[in-house]
Amino acid sequence: MIEKCLFPAAGYGTRFLPATKAMPKEMLPIVDKPLIQYGVEEALDAGMHHIGMVTGRGKRALEDHFDISYELEDQISGTAKESALDGIRRLIRDCSFSYTRQIEMKGLGHAILTGRPLIGDVPFGVVLADDLCLNHGGPGVLAQMVELYRQFRCSIVAVQDVPRADTASYGIVEGETIRGDVMRVTRMVEKPKPEDAPSTLAIIGRYILTPDIFGLIESTPPGRNGEIQLTDALNEQARRGCVIAYRFKGRRFDCGSVAGYLEATNHVYRSRLDDAAT
Ligand code: UTP
Repeated sequence: MIEKCLFPAAGYGTRFLPATKAMPKEMLPIVDKPLIQYGVEEALDAGMHHIGMVTGRGKRALEDHFDISYELEDQISGTAKESALDGIRRLIRDCSFSYTRQIEMKGLGHAILTGRPLIGDVPFGVVLADDLCLNHGGPGVLAQMVELYRQFRCSIVAVQDVPRADTASYGIVEGETIRGDVMRVTRMVEKPKPEDAPSTLAIIGRYILTPDIFGLIESTPPGRNGEIQLTDALNEQARRGCVIAYRFKGRRFDCGSVAGYLEATNHVYRSRLDDAAT
């Protein structure tokens, strides 16, 4: 249904310095697998097999990760270690990968616009790989969103209830409930103070966007720090009644922060131990 997924991955990752000085934050491992690989697995499981990445300076490791490493493969061929690469080999086999560079880091909206040549004129998924989303034993968050897209045929944003004190870290939605976990968005506010937030439903790093978003981003004037926000363009779609907010099933970890990263690492490690024991 939706075949393309865009990964904006050009950000500096300043919350994770010095680790991210010369290494993309998307390559940080959760146990033994980099964040970007979890994201691509989630996209492929939702049927999105054309992967587009918006990268930047110092992000070459992302391209190398989704490529064959002949010397390494030759070295471990026939040993027990070979199976450690099964997951990444499946992605390399079943997905196509294309890349473009964001030359100036002018915000998420600008990064998505930079990815336009990789997407074209079709609806597409967006994954911010530093948000790790897991739904153990059930469909991934993007796959859940594709099901909703089938019904509504408009942009879908994944939302999560957050403590009111944290609203200033997120885009916050206001809308009308259609059914328990689904709302039609009327308005979004970027990083509101707790007292100004219209709700406590925060947009996290999973979207399905209709391609008219590109034109809307193009006509969005830069805001604070010269950044072009995605929220402004989404607000225009919301005014037309074309944005659905979805309270997804599963857990989301903010792995762009040290605390979220550690929580995710502990969670995945414990799940693996539990799975091994059963
Ligand atoms: P963040 O807000 O997490 O920014 O971006 P950041 O630079 O990655 O990290 P911190 O806050 O400095 O620690 C959200 C997502 O948008 C991408 C980032 O790579 C991340 O996936 N992004 C952001 C871009 O691709 N380009 C930009 O100009 C800004």
